[in-house]
Amino acid sequence: MKQISEILSEEYEGKEVSIRGWVYRHRASSKMVFITLRDSTEIIQCVIKNDNENNFEKATDLYIESSLILKGILKKDERAPTGYELQVNDVEVVHKGEPYPITKDQSIEFLADNRHLWLRSRKMTAILKIRSTVFEALDEYFKMKGFYEYHSPIFQAVQCEGGSELFTVDYFDKKDVFLAQTWQLYAEPAIFALEKIYTISPSFRAEKSKTSRHLTEYWHAEMEVAWAEFDDIINYGEEMLKHVVNKVLEKNMRELNLLERDVSKLLPTIEKPFIRMTYDEALVILKDKFDMEVEWGKDLRTIEEEKLTSLYDRPVVCTHYPKKVKAFYMMEAPENPDVVLGCDFLAPEGCGEIIGGSQREHNIEEIKKRLIEQGEKPEQYEFYLDTRRYGSVPHGGFGLGVDRLVRWICGLETIKDAIAFPRTMERYKP
Ligand code: 4AD
Ligand code: MG
Repeated sequence: MKQISEILSEEYEGKEVSIRGWVYRHRASSKMVFITLRDSTEIIQCVIKNDNENNFEKATDLYIESSLILKGILKKDERAPTGYELQVNDVEVVHKGEPYPITKDQSIEFLADNRHLWLRSRKMTAILKIRSTVFEALDEYFKMKGFYEYHSPIFQAVQCEGGSELFTVDYFDKKDVFLAQTWQLYAEPAIFALEKIYTISPSFRAEKSKTSRHLTEYWHAEMEVAWAEFDDIINYGEEMLKHVVNKVLEKNMRELNLLERDVSKLLPTIEKPFIRMTYDEALVILKDKFDMEVEWGKDLRTIEEEKLTSLYDRPVVCTHYPKKVKAFYMMEAPENPDVVLGCDFLAPEGCGEIIGGSQREHNIEEIKKRLIEQGEKPEQYEFYLDTRRYGSVPHGGFGLGVDRLVRWICGLETIKDAIAFPRTMERYKP
């Protein structure tokens, strides 16, 4: 048995091959049946003539997505969609199936309801392959750099990125259990054992945002490093993104073409250094280029991020945000206590923030003070505060929204197509 992409070559021309897959297109006349067969690798046109009654009968009466094994002789054919045609001499119907619910031109809602079937579409197949490469490349990058893979709990009793976005869990009779927003507070204790760690795991955000970039359950690639300064963290982020994009270009040109992705939009990210600017510099650029006035101390909104990134063909790393718009654990900049050593990586083409990271504050009193300012009880963070009591070292890390990265690489309208079963405010089924 061969996979379809394997046999689409001169090597197999004129030879007998067996393939298996699903009916992608079907057209029957009194003399011939044309089946386009699909497997995970490709499609191929197959023709079944009426000179063998048994085969012809089996092939005539089929639904889209029926599963088949076909044996035949491979012929070059310029008119066929992938350049070859299989002239079938044996048809085995593995499962005829029922009439397939998905036909042409169906609504987005219908396709979302039938997501489990829509996964078989060529578009979703291409995206899922690219997504697989992205995960592979992330793993490869961190392993190459000497990181250990480390796992943190998903049930957590502390917040890290703002209490309003927590999902509460019915955990026996306990009321203070949440789904992880990030691994961070459980990762920092582990750098004292392993020094360089990473994970790729789901994170959960109860954000009431119906946008093209928000999921309630998303995949989060996070890293944490001991003995690291702010610049080291940014450099890791840049190098990691370059590695991932490079790998996708190496492995997935076929899929990018199928998605009609303009690949020239990805090249500057691997070829040129990223744009780095401070929050203050970003405000000046927004004023000069777009006449947009952002009051100092306000976070950048989507529209401002979009305008800013529209000026560049690669990610923009914005740093030194006002302390009050960022999380409690970010370190105060030594030269200015009003800003923190935090960075957001903003993707090109309006895809928004893909990485959030920082140097971590190691002054325990400062952390407690900021927790209280945010309405938290420092007592609940005792385990975390211990990281600043016994051999504290400079350290930092970041989190990458993997689905956001996949969306940008694939050039998708929405993050919902970057994952098999998107979870959003409005959808948690199927
Ligand atoms: O910027 P965030 O909130 O940072 C953290 O969680 C840090 N604790 C990470 C760390 O330093 N270890 O989230 C990190 C990234 C964002 O930049 C974004 O790409 C993604 O997670 N993200 C989301 N992706 C999809 N849907 C959502 N609702 C997301 N919220 C955040
Ligand atoms: Mg962020």
